Amino acid sequence: MSDAPTSSSALSDSAFLRAARGEAVPHTPVWYMRQAGRSLPEYLAVREGIGMLESCMRPDLVVEITMQPVRRYGVDAAIFFSDIVLPLKAVGVDLDIKPGVGPVVADPVRTLADVEAIPDLTPEHVPFITEAVQGLVGELGGTPLIGFAGAPFTVASYLVEGGPSKDHARTKAMMFGAPDVWDALMRKIAGIAAAYLDVQVAAGASAVQLFDSWAGALTRADYRAHVMPHSARVLEQIGTTGVPRIHFGVGTGEILDLMGEAGADVVGVDWRVPLAAGIERVGGRAVQGNLDPTLVFAPTEVMLDRAREILGAGRAAPGHIFNLGHGVIPSTDPDQLARLTDFVHEHSQTP
Ligand code: CP3
Repeated sequence: MSDAPTSSSALSDSAFLRAARGEAVPHTPVWYMRQAGRSLPEYLAVREGIGMLESCMRPDLVVEITMQPVRRYGVDAAIFFSDIVLPLKAVGVDLDIKPGVGPVVADPVRTLADVEAIPDLTPEHVPFITEAVQGLVGELGGTPLIGFAGAPFTVASYLVEGGPSKDHARTKAMMFGAPDVWDALMRKIAGIAAAYLDVQVAAGASAVQLFDSWAGALTRADYRAHVMPHSARVLEQIGTTGVPRIHFGVGTGEILDLMGEAGADVVGVDWRVPLAAGIERVGGRAVQGNLDPTLVFAPTEVMLDRAREILGAGRAAPGHIFNLGHGVIPSTDPDQLARLTDFVHEHSQTP
């Protein structure tokens, strides 16, 4: 008999899952938000002539695109290739993802009737997700797959504004002025997000990340009163599966503790907050982050010096997963990310 660990024990013992659970690690695990995507020539090649949403619904493409950064960089986790608006598309919301723009919704949601017209999500809406996750788990072996969903506030912003927004003014106007519509919309999206995460975990995803990218637009009081309970419901429901839950947003320094309290095992920290301060704010939870994504454009030594500081700060947390403070910028040179990945692995080994 061989002593080689089975793939499931290798998976459970992976540096990424150990760090997410706050256990000792052989090295700090690293992956990058948006590690798949336009920064990779192999991504641009397979996407040629195929729309973003169509590629998310083709399991062969999802498997290939998700695997690309894992093969290239040897990162410690794969992030499922999809988008936060995909489950809405799957239940029938008329939307598209426009190149260089982002999600665009044909009929923005403004009334209670608009909310009630959105169906709840069942696994039958997303058979292609189940197929893609199962295919990936087979290919990834001991490397964990992170499933994800958009959090209610961030997804609501696209639905209410009809597209990307800087100030989220209409969304917040609904939150302040039409609490019944707001509550119904947040409940609707939370239900869809939880069901969508359940599908991914049932098919074999080892962890999940809830992206509340735009939650930093809210005051602490408004986040706590109008948003946190809905995100908490998503995190609570997926928590029953036992997989680690990462909770991330941009510009969320003022609400990091609340994002942890919402039910996260790991709190994603953006680059504006020094990691040591982030660790204090989320007291007792693991953290993920947080190199400024523009540092890949700095001289390599400057980038690596900053990475070294972050690795040092991360030691104070029960668990630290290295990442950028937000997604990989499309013009990033993949060779810089390769150097960064190797550096993180080499400079975080425990003797
Ligand atoms: O590699 C990965 O990280 C997985 C893939 C992923 C995508 N979107 C693919 C994508 C993930 C995790 C997302 C989540 C997502 N989508 C978020 C939360 C994460 C974040 O960045 O804060 C948000 C806010 C969206 C909405 C969205 N979709 C935006 C803002 C954009 C970019 C618009 C643009 O073209 O600049 C998209 C489109 C999108 N999602 C692309 C990719 C690879 C680009 C589409 C393309 O390649 O043509």
